[in-house]
Amino acid sequence: MKKVIWSRDLAVGIAEIDEQHQQWIQRLNDVAAAIAAKQGPVEIGRTLEFLSDYTKQHFATEEQLMAAAHFPGLQAQRAQHEELTATLQELLRDFQEEGATPKLAEAVDTYLGNWLLRHIRERDLEFGEFSKTRPA
Ligand SMILES: [Fe+2]
Ligand SMILES: [Fe+2]
Repeated sequence: MKKVIWSRDLAVGIAEIDEQHQQWIQRLNDVAAAIAAKQGPVEIGRTLEFLSDYTKQHFATEEQLMAAAHFPGLQAQRAQHEELTATLQELLRDFQEEGATPKLAEAVDTYLGNWLLRHIRERDLEFGEFSKTRPA
C-alpha cells in the first residue's frame, strides 16, 4: 500500500484548506489501510463513507471560499469536484455490491491518491496564488 503524504509543496496558503487537505489525505490512507489489512466490510465501509463525507464537506468549503473571492477558476473546480464525488459514489456502490475487490484496492491506491494530488497541484494551488493577489 502506497501512503499519500502531504508536504509543503501542496500548501495552498489558506489555513482552512491546508488543514482539510491533510485530514482528507489521512482519510484516504485510512481506507487504503483498512483494505490492505483485510478488515471486515463494516470497517472498510465506514472508512469509505468517512472519506466520501469528508470529500463533500471539503469541496463545499472550497467552493464557498472561491465564490466569495470571485475566483475565475470556480467552474473548473466545480467540474472536477463533481467528477470525484461521482467516482466516490460509484466506488461505494460497487463496494456494497461486491465487497473489497482488487479493483477497489487499485482505485483507492492509485486513482484516488493521484487524483487528489493532481487536483491540489493543478487547481487548488491556483486558488492559493489568486488569493495572495487579493487579500481578504
Ligand atoms: Fe481541495
Ligand atoms: Fe478543489
